[in-house]
Amino acid sequence: MPYAKIIGSGGYLPPRVVSNDELAADLATRQIETSDTWIVERTGIRQRHIADPGMTTSQLATRAAQAALEDAGITADEVDLIIVATSTPDFVFPSTACLVQANLGAKGGAAFDIQAVCSGFVYALTTADAFIQAGRAKTALVIGAEVFSSILDWNDRGTCVLFGDGAGAVVVRASAEPGIIAAQLNADGSQMKILCAAGNVAHGKVTGDPFLRMDGQAVFKLAVNCLAKSAHEVCEQAGIALDEVDWMVPHQANVRIINFLSRKLGIAEDKVVITVDSHANTSAASVPLAFDVARRDGRIKAGDVVMLQGVGGGFTWGSVLARI
Ligand code: ACO
Repeated sequence: MPYAKIIGSGGYLPPRVVSNDELAADLATRQIETSDTWIVERTGIRQRHIADPGMTTSQLATRAAQAALEDAGITADEVDLIIVATSTPDFVFPSTACLVQANLGAKGGAAFDIQAVCSGFVYALTTADAFIQAGRAKTALVIGAEVFSSILDWNDRGTCVLFGDGAGAVVVRASAEPGIIAAQLNADGSQMKILCAAGNVAHGKVTGDPFLRMDGQAVFKLAVNCLAKSAHEVCEQAGIALDEVDWMVPHQANVRIINFLSRKLGIAEDKVVITVDSHANTSAASVPLAFDVARRDGRIKAGDVVMLQGVGGGFTWGSVLARI
């Protein structure tokens, strides 16, 4: 059975950068109080990229996919599977993955979306790994992309300061060398209310509440505990010790969650990739964006063992262990 090996990565962030100070000034016009100090102390976030009106998830995803294909040195014709993880698709249908396929000029193969919110990328990568191991695909584009700013309630200071927009992608190819060496996914639907955007369009009308709502403290506790357990489980599955992991690339929600997690696992902070300070939480895009940053700046090298971890609404969480 072949391994699925990551052979390229790419990212795309919308050009508009909004600092905490700018955001605080903007919210102040709506009589919403926040500050750079509050946001940095509670979350580690200093800025976020926000898509201009009209900029869609498929556009961001396409730019990230093009960067990943270029990095892998392959053309879109060689791709026989496209999976886009997103909770902010352009349309109900067709899927964002089909739009990306058309934008890339790719033909043939399967294309579909996966919805697991901030865990979406690890869900998508695990799915691509299964397709490749089963011989159902040879070369997959796995993308996490979001315009999360479109589902934020800009009058809710408890959530709107936390998120940003962006896309990250990897190219995964069948290979005799490892590869993705272990993966595990989880969900607990009974926790759906702690993080949700419980709206929909039905009969031509928006029903429910379309904005993201969150019980921040419940999410914080669950995220740390679930990710710690998942890290142990995925290492056990691969038959390696946690200290053999060269790099942790956890979901970038909040620097305090990441620090709690690394301390709980006994992993040195300099082995953990952090981009939440400059990207904020980009949901399904956060893990591939952080992975791409660390590959391009030379921290993650060929041969390294990397743990990618996602956690988010559903409640969902999971880990992928890969040799690069
Ligand atoms: N600016 C200023 N004050 C604020 C802001 C803000 N942006 N947001 C909330 N506050 C206020 C609250 O109103 C409250 O004021 P009060 O004491 O007068 O009532 C006070 O700050 C404390 O609010 P809490 O919600 O208790 O703040 P907490 O310390 O829990 O921090 C936070 C909130 C940062 C969201 C924290 O709970 C957290 O990190 N949770 C993790 C959730 C997360 O990161 N989610 C991301 C999405 S989920 C995911 O990706 C897995």
